Amino acid sequence: MACESSSVRPTSLLLLCFLLGTASAQLSSTFYSTSCPSALSIIKSGVNSAVSREARMGASLLRLHFHDCFVNGCDASILLDDTANFTGEKNASPNANSIRGYEVIDTIKSQLESKCPSIVSCADILAVVARDSVVALGGPSWTVSLGRRDSTTASPRAANSSIPPPTLSLNGLISAFSNKGFTAKEMVALLGSHTIGHARCTAFRAQLYDENNINAMLATSLKANCPSSGGDNNLSPLDITSPTSFDNAFFKNLQTQKVFLHSDQQLFSGGSTDAHVNAYSSDSGTFKTDFANAMVKMGNLSPLIGSSGQIRKNCRKIN
Ligand code: HEM
Repeated sequence: MACESSSVRPTSLLLLCFLLGTASAQLSSTFYSTSCPSALSIIKSGVNSAVSREARMGASLLRLHFHDCFVNGCDASILLDDTANFTGEKNASPNANSIRGYEVIDTIKSQLESKCPSIVSCADILAVVARDSVVALGGPSWTVSLGRRDSTTASPRAANSSIPPPTLSLNGLISAFSNKGFTAKEMVALLGSHTIGHARCTAFRAQLYDENNINAMLATSLKANCPSSGGDNNLSPLDITSPTSFDNAFFKNLQTQKVFLHSDQQLFSGGSTDAHVNAYSSDSGTFKTDFANAMVKMGNLSPLIGSSGQIRKNCRKIN
């Protein structure tokens, strides 16, 4: 159709193509097969060595892709460093002192640049790294479509408004994900990511001290590590049972109120998403399949393709 073939596209057609989602149809799993055949293996070994050094890094790298894609699409905008005359997304409130893994991406990118200069985009690296991280921690695999290009801009304002905060109600969560085209069920599957990784005390202090829906024993032990003031950066595992294993334990924790982010417990609080939590809790295969499909969908959010954007040589700065 004209979205794929026409080189001269009037704005109205571009808009139609965008609405039909055909931009993502131009991504392809074989995009680097001839231009950089070792790309996927370079990325996988970079992820595996980072995760074997520190298992939590797999969680941090998965989250990096989410915080990239929800802010004007999967375009590696999150990787741009601030400079004297440019303010990127790294210091926006959902990211500052929280997002990790930039150095892992740098290492992978420099290996790719020495093998195939200016070929593999930072946005594609993030998408493949997220998949390989989940696999490294025992989660499902999926095919990543490739051919995303890198932004030449970033938006701290969009980072602040597009990434949902942990204070949201269930309705707020549903509408934040619906704004990006996800159903409530897909949202529940994606939030199953909180079966790995850690959160800082500052992210859950209010839930811990002001609400009474955390399992009492868990609350006591969390308070020892997260005082009512101070200790902002003290970490607790999001899944207290198996924080380095990508399984469905998160959903079992929700059923027994053994989670501590306000937004997480909202998924199982007598509302419309309880049924999805119950289904994923009792069937880890369904969770993993739905999670993988939702990750493919997330990775296809508004990619830059064709001649839009660029292939950055250094993920931290535009060429
Ligand atoms: C409503 C949506 C979400 C909210 C409110 C939320 C909130 C949070 C918060 C507050 C943290 C702890 C950050 C810190 O303390 O520094 C966190 C960690 C994490 N989030 Fe989410 N998140 C959401 C959705 C997602 C999604 C969709 C994914 C992945 C697809 C994801 C993956 C993770 C991972 C893996 C971690 C642990 C990171 C690490 O250990 O470095 N989150 N999230």
